[in-house]
Amino acid sequence: MIILAIDTSCDDTCAAVVNDGKIITNVISSQVDLYKEWGGVVPNLAKRAHLDRIDKVVQRAVNKIGWDKIDVIGVTQGPGLSPALGVGVNKAKELAIKHGKKLTAINHIEGHILSPLLTNSKGKPSNDIKFPILVLTVSGGHTKIVRIAKIGKYRVVGETLDDAGGEALDKASKMMGLGYPGGPIVEKLAKKGKAEFIKLPIPMKQSKDLNMSFSGLKTAFYYTIKDWSKTKVIKNIENLSASFQKAVFDSLIFKFNKAINLYKPKSLFGTGGVMNNKTLKNELRKLARKEKLPIFFPFKKELNGDNAAMIGLVAYYKALKGGFVENLNKLDREPRMEL
Ligand code: KG4
Ligand code: ZN
Repeated sequence: MIILAIDTSCDDTCAAVVNDGKIITNVISSQVDLYKEWGGVVPNLAKRAHLDRIDKVVQRAVNKIGWDKIDVIGVTQGPGLSPALGVGVNKAKELAIKHGKKLTAINHIEGHILSPLLTNSKGKPSNDIKFPILVLTVSGGHTKIVRIAKIGKYRVVGETLDDAGGEALDKASKMMGLGYPGGPIVEKLAKKGKAEFIKLPIPMKQSKDLNMSFSGLKTAFYYTIKDWSKTKVIKNIENLSASFQKAVFDSLIFKFNKAINLYKPKSLFGTGGVMNNKTLKNELRKLARKEKLPIFFPFKKELNGDNAAMIGLVAYYKALKGGFVENLNKLDREPRMEL
């Protein structure tokens, strides 16, 4: 089944064509340059940028295969930024009517948690993945540990109670006077720094549940450097980056480890934009080895962050079960959609 998928949940305008989970095309138009001066995504700027780009992005995705071959359109309904989501949902409805295609509405988080199941157009890599799976998904908007009993059956077993992991890295970067998005900048600096430089608490380590919290960590970091001169911050920028990054990752690993012991999965997944980070990936691989479990990440870097291929994969599973939108007029975005 060939799906055209669209995702405009945040700051990337994305469209992809996916055939039974195999990626034919995957177009991502990043808006990141627009937000450098703001230090974060501005929802109304995102809306305008999506409107400017969506037609070209869809065209680039469909060109190779042509409209005739598309069986179904899949679109991200939520969660995400409301003005941004609206652009994708409206475009998907318009295209479904214009080309006479069925439409399926998809949860963005479901896309992230299943993204390691995506393959290239030849079906590679062909991993033997056993259920149940435990996923750690960390991005600028969400941080969750999800148990996947089977496709379509999910349970969020832990999540952040405030900031997302990537958001915490972005905010720490801003506090140190560095750029946006902060995650990759902090990663680069952290490589040359000493993580023991400042001692930050591992948030929620004592809590019995699997939830996480990063806003206290951000505050602790703020108070540590608040009275420092700019020169002192710059002199110690590598050590500060290493210390903050370690505190975020220690918390993620600690809770994921706890979740593994509690839920005894057969496979592990790591997904979301923060999985671009090699240190985090290595820590997760180490944990998987210790627990004698296979761990899978999306097979290429561009599938860690937001993309429409992952929406095309979920749309395929949903369409197989006949999960189509019956009345297009009634379909609306759902910015707070739950998994
Ligand atoms: O999934 P994503 O592209 O977009 C959403 O937020 O949905 O994730 C973006 C987040 C940002 O917070 C960014 O700083 C973080 O992922 N990120 C990284 C790295 N690359 C992106 N964090 C740590 N290390 C990286 N290399
Ligand atoms: Zn996302």
